[in-house]
Amino acid sequence: MKALVLAGGRGTRLRPITHTSAKQLVPVANKPVLFYGLEAIRDAGIRDVGIVVSDPREMLQPDLRTGQRTTVMVNSQAEIRAAVEDGSRFGLRVTYIEQEAPLGLAHAVKISESYMAGEPFVMYLGDNLIKDGITPFVREFEQERPNAQILLAHVKTPSEFGVAELEGDRVVRLEEKPKQPRSDLALVGVYLFDRTIFEAVHAIAPSKRGELEITDAIQFLITGGRRVRSHVISGWWKDTGKVEDMLEGNRMMLGGIETDVRGEVDTDSAVEGRVVIGPGTKVERSRLRGPLIVGANARIVDSYVGPFTALGDGVELSHCEIEHSIVLERSRIHDVPSRIESSLIGKDVVVCASDARPRTHRLMLGDSSRVELS
Ligand code: G1P
Repeated sequence: MKALVLAGGRGTRLRPITHTSAKQLVPVANKPVLFYGLEAIRDAGIRDVGIVVSDPREMLQPDLRTGQRTTVMVNSQAEIRAAVEDGSRFGLRVTYIEQEAPLGLAHAVKISESYMAGEPFVMYLGDNLIKDGITPFVREFEQERPNAQILLAHVKTPSEFGVAELEGDRVVRLEEKPKQPRSDLALVGVYLFDRTIFEAVHAIAPSKRGELEITDAIQFLITGGRRVRSHVISGWWKDTGKVEDMLEGNRMMLGGIETDVRGEVDTDSAVEGRVVIGPGTKVERSRLRGPLIVGANARIVDSYVGPFTALGDGVELSHCEIEHSIVLERSRIHDVPSRIESSLIGKDVVVCASDARPRTHRLMLGDSSRVELS
């Protein structure tokens, strides 16, 4: 059994963070989303992992239906390669598979055919977080040996996902992001396949959004009478494509942390609940209320850090209050008059107060940024 991890895509819903970073590397509880997936694969006993990455440049993407080309920005594969390397620190053997453009999940499968060499595999979308891992699903697939096995979860907004229609536990129909969903069962981004999936990805045509959809490929198997099993998961799962989902993932993962204080907390500070504080970090005259995590070499002065907050390495806070937020490396937040909440702040960002008159908001924001002021 091998694994195929998809770490390409444009991450449009996480802009501006994804203008400069791959969405799979945005940290949840200070660990890139992608790493949780790689660990889950390792824990399921799989060693060989193909990671599909896309080219780092701005490029022309052909529309498979019309033949026209549009300019899109694709994620930096260099960043994924630098973060994961050869996979050995996860106990994995990683091979990178280059996708020339984000042409769909089934296209990613298509270009991985020679890597898989006829072996069954688990396909894992690198932006999906499954709290309890994938081991039981992999074991079930190995025992039952269907042609494909999909994971499903009840969701409130099925039209944002691939949706399955079941008769008993038999999958009768799959539809990608239907306007009128026939059920509330979304396809989770973890799929198990045997080699018959390659017949399907060669047979299907691009969808309305111009991609080769894995949903259509699995539907092809169903229509052709192949055995497609489903498993409705009861544990926690998130596709972290949007800010709200990222924050919820952060909340979920921080919910399970154990206190580990390596930095220095002065006697004028108060710490409540479970907190992780990295080495070299200094906390002065502040109040920390866990669960929360602070990376290495950060500085928190005269501030409040509330539950479900993850502050990256080198972050500096002074005279501010923040909770239920993610702040990436080296950002500095100073003298902000009201509490910052439910925010995702990128790397090297500065948020500060100003005494300049007239009293105005002065902003320098990247494309697709979002600021809510009150
Ligand atoms: C993809 C699949 C969709 C699935 C989802 C899960 O959607 O196409 O069927 O439900 O992942 O994360 P995407 O996030 O690429 O739009």
